[in-house]
Amino acid sequence: MDTNAAAPAIDVQGLECRQGERTILHDVTFSVAKGELFFVIGGSGCGKSTLLKHLIGLLPVAAGRIAYFGRDFTTAGPAARREMQKSFGVSYQYGALWSSMTLAENVALPLQEHTTLTADERREIVRWKLAQVGLSGSEDQYPSEVSGGMRKRAAIARALALDPQIIFFDEPAAGLDPITSRSLDRLILEIRDNLHTTMVIVSHELPSILGIADRAILLHRDVQGILAEGAPRQLLAESTDPRVHEFLAPEDVTAAPRSP
Ligand SMILES: Nc1ncnc2c1ncn2[C@@H]1O[C@H](COP(=O)(O)OP(=O)(O)O)[C@@H](O)[C@H]1O
Ligand SMILES: [Mg+2]
Repeated sequence: MDTNAAAPAIDVQGLECRQGERTILHDVTFSVAKGELFFVIGGSGCGKSTLLKHLIGLLPVAAGRIAYFGRDFTTAGPAARREMQKSFGVSYQYGALWSSMTLAENVALPLQEHTTLTADERREIVRWKLAQVGLSGSEDQYPSEVSGGMRKRAAIARALALDPQIIFFDEPAAGLDPITSRSLDRLILEIRDNLHTTMVIVSHELPSILGIADRAILLHRDVQGILAEGAPRQLLAESTDPRVHEFLAPEDVTAAPRSP
């Protein structure tokens, strides 16, 4: 899919996102460089998941355009869209694994659906993908037999199965304790550094946002779109918008002296 060497991995221009008749986001414009660890951040209900669903083609674009590696996704025909979608790895917030299948069988699913590999070849790839996320030896365990953090890792292995050029994660740390979340952050960094995969991560977890994001767009209900864009720590240091601080440094905001 890498058609244009100079083009960004993702280029979004004037995107309008709707849920049914309701416009959730207006005029969303941003781009993501190849290999960037890019975050979509903001409070609950601001439209993060809605944006993600538009990016991967689960919801129809009302206006504007999305291009991947210089190739227009919005106007592509069904076959070209499917081909582009095959180069995305997606891990949804509640994208649970199939409970009746082992971790290995879960990770093998995309390979079964989208490749003509033999069972032996699939097994080899699955073993390697599970090793990449630190789950060697857990191939034959069922999701109910492993921890929440291990289930997330297996879901990431499944998203990596087809060697995606871009990985989309919706709230990867949802439901995890802080220590497990930080180890998931390290895994995400490792994947980006080793595989040079472009990553788009939806999150409202401050430690992840301030810890690993290269750059972020902050969505906000007030503007029904992008309130701020930049490296999160830089936004925190430089933004004069109180809403940016309210999101990125809620403790500072509540700790500020209040008039009686
Ligand atoms: N399937 C849906 N149908 C109608 N409205 C929806 C649907 N999903 C989300 N919304 C609305 O869209 C807005 C943004 O939701 P969402 O994208 O899920 O926010 P976030 O992921 O940032 O928490 C919310 O007001 C929500 O109620
Ligand atoms: Mg969401």
